[in-house]
Amino acid sequence: MGHTVICVDRDEKRLEPLRRGESPIHEAHLPELLRRHAGRSVTFSDSISAAVRASEVIFIAVGTPPAVGGESDLSQVEAVSREIAESIDAYRVIVEKSTVPVHTSGWIDRVIAMNGARRELYDVVSNPEFLREGTAVRDFLFPDRIVVGADSQRAAAVMQEIYGPLTGGKYGASPESIPAPAHWQGKAPLVLTSTKSAELIKHASNAFLAMKISFINAVANLCEASGADVEQVKRGIGADSRIGQRFLNPGIGYGGSCFPKDLQSFRHVARECGYEFSLLDEVIRINDEQRKRFVQKVRKALWTLKGKRIAVLGLAFKGGTDDIRESPAIEICRELLAGGCTLQAYDPAATERARDVFHGNAHVTFAPDAYSACEGGDALLALTDWAEFAELDLDRIKAVLRYPIVLDGRNIFSPQTMEAKGFTYYGIGRATALPASDVPPESTARRRSTS
Ligand code: UGA
Repeated sequence: MGHTVICVDRDEKRLEPLRRGESPIHEAHLPELLRRHAGRSVTFSDSISAAVRASEVIFIAVGTPPAVGGESDLSQVEAVSREIAESIDAYRVIVEKSTVPVHTSGWIDRVIAMNGARRELYDVVSNPEFLREGTAVRDFLFPDRIVVGADSQRAAAVMQEIYGPLTGGKYGASPESIPAPAHWQGKAPLVLTSTKSAELIKHASNAFLAMKISFINAVANLCEASGADVEQVKRGIGADSRIGQRFLNPGIGYGGSCFPKDLQSFRHVARECGYEFSLLDEVIRINDEQRKRFVQKVRKALWTLKGKRIAVLGLAFKGGTDDIRESPAIEICRELLAGGCTLQAYDPAATERARDVFHGNAHVTFAPDAYSACEGGDALLALTDWAEFAELDLDRIKAVLRYPIVLDGRNIFSPQTMEAKGFTYYGIGRATALPASDVPPESTARRRSTS
């Protein structure tokens, strides 16, 4: 975008690879951008004071992990605010980028003032981020909207200038830009609000998206009970432009470092403000139940779990990332291990991180590819929506599995194809596809209607 950026972290171990232009996480486009800019327009430092003195705008992007009661732990925000305050020697805009509860910008303002910065030398702005892991770079550079919460016109003008290349369309039009998504309209709208509104927009956006996912998962359960197909229902309801198709994919529930934590935090914030936002309790409850239902489905399909060898495809909390924080796939693996299963797992990017989680557990092995994971398996479980899983050679999978049973937690495969290939196939919110030879005793599974 043309800016000069200093990234500060106190952990030297994080800084070293970044200085060499190496991305510490699996994230599309990040390696090429680091290669292009590291050491030039992007530098890395462990000194907050030097960076604050050299910059006009300071983005706070530290972690806000959940505390015991579900609220956000804001101690890192407070700590860096204090350090920033000590180095402010000319007008600075302090931008709160971390996901934080309403009123945080007011607290940052107070902490900075109490630590010696003159009030006329800074403004605090809320600028929530809406990028998703896996598509983070593209989401940031081609956003649906940019939200800036500023209570001062001077600070708002600085933020408008920073995002000018995105709101004016100059970045997207440049030959240097990364490829724009298909739906890109050319310019990003900027929504200017108060700081409190911007803080609420962030939590409310994540809560709404999580609500969409829990809603479709509840509908999927109803589809299973009634014989309807949730993918058809999704197409039908999503075609209403007021609802939309996105974030209506049923599955084993949402995970990751954002939705689970942010819903708890938003629930807590609402209560602190005197409002019981109990709708969020139900969103969380449906999400938790979704994993349990899936494990129950595995149990029904395999009769008993003890001693079963399960092929697991996908460990990350979603496709396109190596992040396993709050991953529904990992939770399901834990349940299966507790039930006495042995797991042969494969993930295109998250294996190394998962190795740490299951370290020392002799019942988990990690395969170098999907086919090796399936070798001798009593069933195959698809738990993460990696695009490459949809491209697998199903004949080869069937040949290496001990029994051709597939439980698809992300509706990656088509029931028709799976039935035609001779698999017993269980998806989410769809009737089970059973080859005629394989109808479990007293099965509640219905044969898929081909009409
Ligand atoms: C989420 C939001 O989508 C971003 O807008 C937000 O900026 C980010 O949190 C954040 O607060 O930092 P992210 O956690 O990266 O982004 O991942 P999502 O793509 O939202 O997926 C979250 C979970 O929901 C995943 O487990 C995913 O598999 C699941 N999901 C998503 C579904 O089960 N169904 C869907 O239709 C969509």
